[in-house]
Formats: sequence, structure tokens, C-alpha cells
Amino acid sequence: MNVLHAGRLAKSKEDFKIVQLGPEYIDQVVQMQEQVRRNMRHKSWFMLDTGEEIEAMLKGGGALFGALNQQGEMIAARYISQPGDSASNLANDVALDIPLNEVAVLESTVVSPDYRGNRLQGIMTQVAIKHIERQGLRHLFCTVAPQNIFSLYNVMSSGLKIRALKKKYGTTEHDGVWRFILHRDLLDSQPAWLKQLEIDSHDFDLQKLVINKGFFGDSVSRKTNTIVYAR
Ligand SMILES: CC(C)(COP(=O)(O)OP(=O)(O)OC[C@H]1O[C@@H](n2cnc3c(N)ncnc32)[C@H](O)[C@@H]1OP(=O)(O)O)[C@@H](O)C(=O)NCCC(=O)NCCS
Repeated sequence: MNVLHAGRLAKSKEDFKIVQLGPEYIDQVVQMQEQVRRNMRHKSWFMLDTGEEIEAMLKGGGALFGALNQQGEMIAARYISQPGDSASNLANDVALDIPLNEVAVLESTVVSPDYRGNRLQGIMTQVAIKHIERQGLRHLFCTVAPQNIFSLYNVMSSGLKIRALKKKYGTTEHDGVWRFILHRDLLDSQPAWLKQLEIDSHDFDLQKLVINKGFFGDSVSRKTNTIVYAR
């Protein structure tokens, strides 16, 4: 097993490692996701992929990462994809001119409830970013439910900026669930800005308006539930 990161959990002080996993682990990841989602109060914050969808992502250049505890049990998982010229490539959702074949997408992360608070999402995101850099891909995308402040904070701490707010995963533009679309250019991760605005993260209309005026979401505060937009 290819160990990409080894460390000690911040809370329980237990040793853990992050490894790249093969397709034989997909069923275990799906089971973990289903179990976590079953216990979530707001199920729309977390969309499940089927095993077949994850397998297709791995075959199409994606990768699966798992965090394992001392006993070798999976305590967190994350996977990434390379959507290429698929219509679902998130580069199509933002007003940036990005070659589709330079895009990698941070797909789902899940941390077992017993292991939350150890910054595992952030650590696994860093591992995934290093993998993406090694593959020579330049543009990183992901979606986050606007109300999922834990995930939003972690993803923005890895340098991704909010570039769109729209309904996703529906069959028309009217159904679906609200998602921020976040982006980071790995060769230029700090876009320049001159002006800043702080907006309540629940105010979707104002956020859509300022994004349409060229602002991007630069940082989020978990304390005040606000997002600083910059242009
Ligand atoms: C989002 C998620 C991956 C974050 O897990 P994590 O890496 O363990 O989170 P962090 O270590 O950054 O946690 C930071 C703080 O938020 C708390 N926290 C994290 N997730 C929480 C949750 N879902 N509910 C309540 N508190 C949570 C942690 O306990 C910690 O608190 P502390 O600072 O007082 O210790 C995890 O909550 C999860 O698996 N959620 C369900 C799936 C999901 O929403 N995935 C993201 C979309 S793909």
C-alpha cells in the first residue's frame, strides 16, 4: 500500500496514515458514506455517488485515498476525478476561461463521526492536491453545500475560492440542491483583489449578485457564518 502521509491524530493521539487505495476498496467507501449520510440531519448537504460512478472516476484518471487508524481500519476517505470534456466538468459552471483537460475535481470526503475534529478533511485535501500536482493538472474544483460550514472552511483553507453559487445535481435549473463551486489555480493560488465585502453566508441573492459582478469568495468565518468576497 502506497503511504502518502503518516501522522498522529490531534485528539486521540493515535497514529494514522493516508494511503492511495485501489478499486477493491470502493464498496467499503460506499458503505461508510451511506452510514454517515444516514445519520446526517441535512441529507442534501452530501450527495452520494454509486460504486459504479466512483469506479468510472478511477478509470478516468481519478484516485481514491483512505485514512487508516492503527488497526488498519478506514476512518476517512476522499476521492478525486478528472472530468475532461464531460458536460459535468465544473469549469463549465464558472466565468473563467479554463481548459477542461487541466481540471481535477475534489469529490466527496467523509470522516467517521468518531474521528471528527482531527482535521482529517484538510489533511486529505492536501494529500490529494499533491497527487494532482504530480499529475501535472493545474485547476482544482469542488462543490460544497453553502450551509456545510465545516467542509466550506476546510476547503477554503486549502486555497479554493468561491466562483459560483447555483443549484446542482437536478434535472432542470429549478430543482437540485444549492452548491458553491470553488476553484483554485495551482499555479496562481492567490488571485489579486482591491475591494472586500463581508456577506452573511445565508444571503444567497446577495452572494449571487456580487459573484455576477466579478467578486469571488475569499475566506469564511465559522464564528460569524460570514464570507468575505473580494474583487
Ligand atoms: C465535513 C467533514 C468531512 C469534516 O470532518 P473533519 O475533517 O473531522 O473536521 P475538522 O477536523 O475540520 O473539524 C473542525 C471542528 O468542527 C467539528 N465538526 C466537524 N464536522 C462536524 C459535523 N459534521 N458536525 C458537527 N461538528 C463537526 C469538529 O468536531 C471540530 O470541532 P473542534 O474544533 O471543537 O474540535 C465531516 O464533518 C463529515 O464527514 N461530514 C459528513 C460528510 C460531508 O459533509 N462531507 C463534505 C462534503 S463532500
